[in-house]
Amino acid sequence: MKKTIAILAGDGIGPEIINATLVVLERINKCFGHEIIPHVGLVGGDAYDKFGTHLPDETIELCQNSSAILFGAVGGSVNDSNNPRYKNVEKNVILGLRKKFDLFANLRPLKVMPVAIKKSPLKSNIIAGVDVLIVRELVSGIYFGPQRQYESVDGRVAEDTNRYSEMEIERILRVGFESAVRRRKKVTIVDKANVLETSRLWRAVTEIIKKEFSDVSVEYMYIDNAVMQLVSNPTGFDVIITDNMFGDIMSDLGGAVVGSIGLLPSASLNKQGFGMYEPVHGSAPDIAKKNIANPTAQILSLAMMLRYTFRLESEARVIEKAIVDAWIMGKKTKDLTSAGEPWVGTKEFAEVVSSLIDN
Ligand code: IPM
Ligand code: MG
Repeated sequence: MKKTIAILAGDGIGPEIINATLVVLERINKCFGHEIIPHVGLVGGDAYDKFGTHLPDETIELCQNSSAILFGAVGGSVNDSNNPRYKNVEKNVILGLRKKFDLFANLRPLKVMPVAIKKSPLKSNIIAGVDVLIVRELVSGIYFGPQRQYESVDGRVAEDTNRYSEMEIERILRVGFESAVRRRKKVTIVDKANVLETSRLWRAVTEIIKKEFSDVSVEYMYIDNAVMQLVSNPTGFDVIITDNMFGDIMSDLGGAVVGSIGLLPSASLNKQGFGMYEPVHGSAPDIAKKNIANPTAQILSLAMMLRYTFRLESEARVIEKAIVDAWIMGKKTKDLTSAGEPWVGTKEFAEVVSSLIDN
């Protein structure tokens, strides 16, 4: 296969985990005879320094001319929130790319991995066997509805608008139901239908769409109950379909459930199957440039790209297996070890993983 992909490393640990992932990509190309060629573009602080914007037109053009985007992370530390290099950078870059390419379908798999079981704050009998797919709507809802602030007799007032159209609900439901067909055939719609009008429309549209998927069982769950179920009975879920805001909250919670958000990849896809692949975690500036970051979520994001954009299922599986094999060999990044246990750096971990990849 001959393709180009856009590489947007960004800030913080982004460049390190992206470089680690490129080592793995090179190995995949070599072992499987592909030419999936990375082209680097700037986003975040470096883009700001060079172009005065976090998401330059050059970068958007690079993405338009690529088959997929592999994205690292953007953002500075809390103290940097007023530094123009980072001010609003997540909104500008991440939300900007999602909207620009209409990446409405966000797939966030939550799978418990043996190496992280002890890292989860939950008892291992509760999390054993967790395998959930969160399907989050990504380009609408309260993230993108009209926002404003104005003065009133009570002082300033701020408004965010949660808005969904039937079309937007229908297309994300289809992605979720189609995923469920290939899995354990159960869908949980997470909402707040006892309060929100948008949730009631989600339910009405679900009642129509579910008729096309008669072998998939559907349950509705309020978000407050759903977060409780995700920590008390996570194996009860198969596919969770939810809106932009609730999906954001549930996916970080999911990271805690499986022991580390550093293990969670994601895919954000549009109707044409074009996608951006990125870790669920952020830029972690506190551990940047120390060669200690765990590149697993980024490497697994590459595996998702191979699976979803390029339909290279075996290559994706080889990567996933190589990561687990590296752990079995005792090669773990610092975050996955307990005090006194030996660990390997970001780079070394990637090298071990790629050495375990074979066709
Ligand atoms: C995520 C992130 C983003 C979101 C932020 C950085 C805008 O938290 O991808 O989950 O809220 O969607
Ligand atoms: Mg989030």
